[in-house]
Amino acid sequence: MTEKDTFYLTTPIYYINDLPHIGHAYTTIAADVLARWRRAHGDRVLFLTGTDEHGQKVARAAEAGGLDPQAWTDQIVERWKATWAELDITYDDFIRTTEERHVLPVQHLWQQLYDQGDVYLDSYEGLYCVACEQFYSPEELVDGLCPIHGRPVETVREENYFFRISKYADRLLEHYRDHPEFVRPDTRRREVVSFVEQGLQDLSISRSSFTWGVPIPWDPRHVMYVWVDALQNYLTAAGWDADMERFARVWPADYHFVGKDILRFHAVTWPAILLAAGLPLPRTVQAHGWLLVGGEKMSKTKLTGIAPHDLVEPFGSDAVRYFFQREVAFGQDGNFSWEALVERYNADLANGLGNLASRVTAMVERYRDGVLPGPGPATDAEVAVQEAAGRAYAEAAAALEEVAYERALAAIWRFVGAANAYLSERRPWDLAKAGEDLALDTTLYTGAEALRVAALLTAPWLTRTAPALWSAIGARGELAEARLPGDLAWGGLPRGARVERVGALFPRLDAEGNVARRAG
Ligand code: MSP
Repeated sequence: MTEKDTFYLTTPIYYINDLPHIGHAYTTIAADVLARWRRAHGDRVLFLTGTDEHGQKVARAAEAGGLDPQAWTDQIVERWKATWAELDITYDDFIRTTEERHVLPVQHLWQQLYDQGDVYLDSYEGLYCVACEQFYSPEELVDGLCPIHGRPVETVREENYFFRISKYADRLLEHYRDHPEFVRPDTRRREVVSFVEQGLQDLSISRSSFTWGVPIPWDPRHVMYVWVDALQNYLTAAGWDADMERFARVWPADYHFVGKDILRFHAVTWPAILLAAGLPLPRTVQAHGWLLVGGEKMSKTKLTGIAPHDLVEPFGSDAVRYFFQREVAFGQDGNFSWEALVERYNADLANGLGNLASRVTAMVERYRDGVLPGPGPATDAEVAVQEAAGRAYAEAAAALEEVAYERALAAIWRFVGAANAYLSERRPWDLAKAGEDLALDTTLYTGAEALRVAALLTAPWLTRTAPALWSAIGARGELAEARLPGDLAWGGLPRGARVERVGALFPRLDAEGNVARRAG
């Protein structure tokens, strides 16, 4: 029998009514970092992202743009892909819900649920937010407006098909109890549990007032509700039900990364659908917080969206990938500010790693003509640097098991700090003056080896700088081929390696954080 052998992680599929902002990039970067980290450990990985292309929200955006929905999505999807390329996102698959590979399994699954009596026709009236693509009860509204978008909701009165989700409440509760890792962080798990404990109302799964969706196979006057079509993308990309051999290797998903606003769909609706279909549930639905601007969720709807390109252009994609992961504890909300970005950039990247790289490589060039000397016997100082490297990996690995990126990065940067402090204490320039050749060799080697370790550890975040650093210090092979933790073993740099001087990896930004005028 085929067994699961693939680490499968997903981002939400993004609505394609508009262009990406850094709130979307935040989730996608987080998933990309974890995918890269796992690949570096030799794991087979399926990292999925994509676009959610059906529903009223997209249909209306297309109409406003004067295009039919398919032409609209075909055009906008390219902008999303370009953004992910700009941020070095290494997805293994990109799914679009309008693809035939997706539409057919959606129809198949829902036909099955209909045939087994989990779906029935009923009439319905409710308050709908098109921006959320979600119904709200009157109590959930804030001053009569959508609690997420602060916009008016619409009264929808329709005859719809309903999914008997109420029937699955007990089994869901049982699952939350037996698998505490199913929803993380734990505070969110408790919210989900108390929501389900109040009982579930059957879910309307079809619409008949518009046509932009997957036709309901047994009644083509209706299209599927966009959310149930969307959730199933995770199954489609895993191979259900076109390639069941592949499906067995990939499913269940290890992580669904989702923002807290869409947690209920992933932690309640989705597992209920899977239970009904008799399929295993994902291991962990990992909720994260929002990026806020001026205390509010960054959003295009509210015109607070910042395009990823606006940050990548001045700071570089490495800095963008680093900043959001370091600054905001995954799971919590975090305020975005340019000041914080400039401060982190200067302190951690320019002065921290950048400084270490330029000092070490400049000294190898200056004192040893760019040829790395072998080290003499390690003293306590060198042993301390080696130990700091081991600790950084152990702490980063433990943190990433809990997807605590900020802790992983803090651990790695403690090591960068220790290496910088080591150099300052050893004062290689004094050793050179005093003709203490062996001690100088040891110091230069230790500094260069620290850079090699730093390149290995930072590679999931600093997708451009780490490989550049790796080749500048003459490390063997390609960084992308290196394996953790094996290649972290101290002493991987060969004696005699050609070291090239690196300039400022992260040129400092001026004090006002004026990104247009870079100080060299
Ligand atoms: N299409 C649905 C998801 C379907 S998944 C089967 C959707 N799309 S979305 O484009 O509106 O949002 C996608 C993700 O972006 C959500 O996880 C949401 O939390 C996240 N973010 C949107 N704005 C955000 C911030 N300001 N900050 C962090 N994440 C944010 O919902």
